[in-house]
Amino acid sequence: MRINPETVERIKHAADIVEVVGDFVSLKKKGANYSACCPFHNEKTPSFNVNPVRQIYKCFGCGAAGDSIKFVMDIDGIGYGEALRYLAGKYNIEIEEEELTDEETIRQNARESLYIILNFAKNYYQHQLHDSEEGQAIGLSYFRERGFTNEIRRKFELGYSLDVWDAFTKEALEKGYSAEILEKAGLLIHKEGSQSAGYDRFRGRVIFPIHNIAGKTIAFGARILKSDKNQPKYLNSPETEVYHKSEVLYGIYQAKNAIRQLEHCYLVEGYTDVISLHQAGIENVVASSGTSLTVEQIRLIGRFTPNVTILYDGDMAGIKAALRGLDLVLEEGLNVNVVLFPDNEDPDSYVRRVGAEAFKAHLKKASKDFITFKTEILLQDAGNDPFRLAAVIQEVVNSIVKIPDAIKRQVFFHRTSEMMRVDEQMLITEGNKLLRKQQTAKPAERPARQNNAGSGFSGPGTGVPDGPNDLDAIFSDGFGPFAGEPDAGAFSPEPPAEPIQRSKLHYQEEAFVRLLVVHGARELEPTITVCQYVLGQIEGIELRDPVYNHLLTLFRENYNRNQVLPTDYFLNHHEADIRSMTIEWLTQKHELSELWKEKYEIYVPFETDVLDRTAFNNILRLKKAFIEEKMKVCLQQAATAQTEEEQHAIMTEFMFYKGISMAAAKELGSVIG
Ligand code: CTP
Ligand code: MN
Repeated sequence: MRINPETVERIKHAADIVEVVGDFVSLKKKGANYSACCPFHNEKTPSFNVNPVRQIYKCFGCGAAGDSIKFVMDIDGIGYGEALRYLAGKYNIEIEEEELTDEETIRQNARESLYIILNFAKNYYQHQLHDSEEGQAIGLSYFRERGFTNEIRRKFELGYSLDVWDAFTKEALEKGYSAEILEKAGLLIHKEGSQSAGYDRFRGRVIFPIHNIAGKTIAFGARILKSDKNQPKYLNSPETEVYHKSEVLYGIYQAKNAIRQLEHCYLVEGYTDVISLHQAGIENVVASSGTSLTVEQIRLIGRFTPNVTILYDGDMAGIKAALRGLDLVLEEGLNVNVVLFPDNEDPDSYVRRVGAEAFKAHLKKASKDFITFKTEILLQDAGNDPFRLAAVIQEVVNSIVKIPDAIKRQVFFHRTSEMMRVDEQMLITEGNKLLRKQQTAKPAERPARQNNAGSGFSGPGTGVPDGPNDLDAIFSDGFGPFAGEPDAGAFSPEPPAEPIQRSKLHYQEEAFVRLLVVHGARELEPTITVCQYVLGQIEGIELRDPVYNHLLTLFRENYNRNQVLPTDYFLNHHEADIRSMTIEWLTQKHELSELWKEKYEIYVPFETDVLDRTAFNNILRLKKAFIEEKMKVCLQQAATAQTEEEQHAIMTEFMFYKGISMAAAKELGSVIG
């Protein structure tokens, strides 16, 4: 059943963001908004903001943002429907459900019935473990030997599959489940063309159910108990409609609260590592289950904490191979530490050997930040060979530039320069080079939005007006944080020799699209909306940034149908990137004004007070930026021109553009003055 749209509307209407968030964090009123320390990442000074007018929250530290429903989803790690039910409960709204279309019913039922059969299987395997003769004799004694208590077996819902070809299948068919659904759930293997119904995937193995974040069983891992060279040690469910291996972390359901409370997550390799650590009282632990980490898994951790410690049990060769892959974790803005274990030990065997206290002491003592760890290992290898040392420097700098936070990068440049005995400034220069390469390789790529580096809100001072550029930004289109600001990529303590900047045109394009998204539906004059005015002014212009241009196209298409897309459309857009971009745009201006008001005690008009000027300037700026790009191209062409005529033609064109650009500048100046 689906909650009908009217009920959803009622829930959305009733669920006040301040009340909903207030149940989880203590909010302080600050001007028109509320603030708190962010519940989604570890911080000491509050950068988490709630806007009661817009009914949204946004953390300027970690980028978490959304409405009431999104907040509940993320804080509880539950799905959209569940979040709606939670809010309905809180506000005493009776849920009216709606009949689904046939196709929806089928799809929903398909998923639902997978959950049901997987839950049935989980109970069945648990029952076999504890109550069948074979299960007790083989499975239970195995777990006992490994030291797993009754309590921990129940907590992880461990089970046993009988060493029979079709024990489970028979039972399930008898209970009325179809062979088809058993196969879809990955429990039954059916050979194509075969007459028989098929046979059980899991036989004669102990069973580790894999849960999703809400605690539902979505798959199984199954360990063999006899030594059979022809059989894999672990057999896992295949990918199914509810199990996408790359998005799952084993143990996340059991660990999520501890991770959030302790603001820290341990990452191990195996099922048994997770379980043993839980038993030793370390509950903030999840496993990647033997695969190399994926972005989805990293983001899943990132929803609960930015701090992750990887417990390595491999040999040196394996660890070295894994080092590169970890840059991915840095890229996601997480703080990564690493702990090594003695050869031939994994966290499970080690904690059983030395006990919980000594294990925790080892974690403390042996923990190193990833960059230091990597540098050490690579340096050991390189010895005194200058060529290999150069390669190490490249490799380390490569990792450091992946870190989105500029301050952290600085710390690591400093630290590793000492370790490698090279000049810090040299590392920074190398870093700048790499970053520039990355940017020219992918020109359309936007700077990271998910972190505070370069967003203009990372601390006092970044958004402070200090020149005419910034001042006109206040009074016109309000893009102070972007106006002439060096990009997130510039991370040297002193300005780098060639600062890396997002092009001016790119800023202008963003400012322009933001105007449409945030204010497009407002009326400039009766019957003339901002959207109408703006689109009329820039006919034929395409934006360079593909995402911005996509948004512009949406506006154009709707405009042709006499419609203006409202901000809400983008707030609820199905693409998460567009949603978070919109929230960022909505919150930017306001925060900025607050900052300036406090600091300079000046009156900053609301954007909406000066919307006509904003729109006008915005278009002019965009056109000016376009023209300036063209001028740049002219200059490049002029430099390589073969003949004097050619050069002359190019310079004429250049002067033409220059004229327009100056006129635009003058116009902009006169509007501001
Ligand atoms: N794994 C797997 N398939 C295999 C081997 C391993 O999926 N054939 C995954 C499992 O999730 C396993 C993890 O990789 O837990 C780590 O493998 P390994 O270190 O070999 O197993 P342990 O977890 O140490 O299990 P045990 O202590 O029971 O040997
Ligand atoms: Mn092991």
